[in-house]
Amino acid sequence: MNDPLVLGIETSCDETGVAVLEGFNVRSFVLASQTEEHARFGGVVPEVAARAHVEAIRPLVHQALASAGVHSDQLDAIAATQGPGLIGALMVGFAFGKSLAWTLEKPFYGIDHMEGHLYAPRLEFAEYEPPAVVLLASGGHSQIVHVRAWGEYETLGATIDDAAGEAFDKLARFVGLGYPGGPAIDAEAEGGDPAAVPFPRALRDRPFDFSFSGLKTSVVTYLEKARDNDELPPRADVAASIQEAIVDVLVEKTFNAVEETGVKTVGGGGGVLANRRLRERLNEEATRRGVRLFVPSIRMCTDNGAMIAAVAVDRIRAGTPSDGLGSDVDSSLRLGS
Ligand code: KG4
Ligand code: ZN
Repeated sequence: MNDPLVLGIETSCDETGVAVLEGFNVRSFVLASQTEEHARFGGVVPEVAARAHVEAIRPLVHQALASAGVHSDQLDAIAATQGPGLIGALMVGFAFGKSLAWTLEKPFYGIDHMEGHLYAPRLEFAEYEPPAVVLLASGGHSQIVHVRAWGEYETLGATIDDAAGEAFDKLARFVGLGYPGGPAIDAEAEGGDPAAVPFPRALRDRPFDFSFSGLKTSVVTYLEKARDNDELPPRADVAASIQEAIVDVLVEKTFNAVEETGVKTVGGGGGVLANRRLRERLNEEATRRGVRLFVPSIRMCTDNGAMIAAVAVDRIRAGTPSDGLGSDVDSSLRLGS
């Protein structure tokens, strides 16, 4: 079979992402970010997100097809994010995708958002193959997955409270860096001293799980005390120290999983993998241990339509039946379920 032409739609949170893939070759990649709409609220407002997806989706699909030079009739399939994510936001892309599939009489695939993140490196690295340990860290989820084969996943560990991205976002707000927090801390931390404040590294006794709520409490307590004593360190030092505390545990636990499974390949996906310090530390550790690391470009780490189409491409190649038009979104979909 020729490489299938697939349109991928992602609307699980605050980015409307659409892309056209031909096999794993990215023919077009378009995004409409809602950052400005949410910034004045200091975080993602679900109702605002859903409305912004409604406005963006149709022109964006046209743009993706036009810039790929593909007519909708030529598509082999349409894929959209099924979950997890914000229910109203998910419904916009999923319903649009199903309607398009119905009109064009093409197969439709509902895709797990986290599997999309897990597939993203495949669009940039042909050598990224299982068995692998993959760190997935986004605004809503953080987990370490043992990929035995494509489609065969074992979640080795996950966060027991906040996701890593959520920790970045909440702490950024607390130290006055605003929204979106991850990129703001990343930028502020540049030039800061990561050892300035020894914030705690939680759950050292559980090799693959994360917890970030204690870090939040500790940052709040530390800053209140420092403020009272008039000993507030420079904000760059606080940002670098927060970032280091989060990055430390993500890196440590990923490589605990590498040791446990004996794999020689590590992957990464999700918005937090855009973090420069995390990328640097993963790289150092992978080099030191002689394992191959596949973390994609920043645009491919954060939410996008290409990663959603990629999973569908593999389904089509494997002859997996498409999902019926009666399928629905699932805001709490779990990888491998
Ligand atoms: O995967 P993603 O784009 O959307 C979700 O599925 O949630 O991830 C968004 C998360 C947000 O929490 C954002 O603050 C975080 O990824 N993020 C970062 C960086 N860029 C985005 N966190 C740390 N450093 C960054 N440079
Ligand atoms: Zn995501």
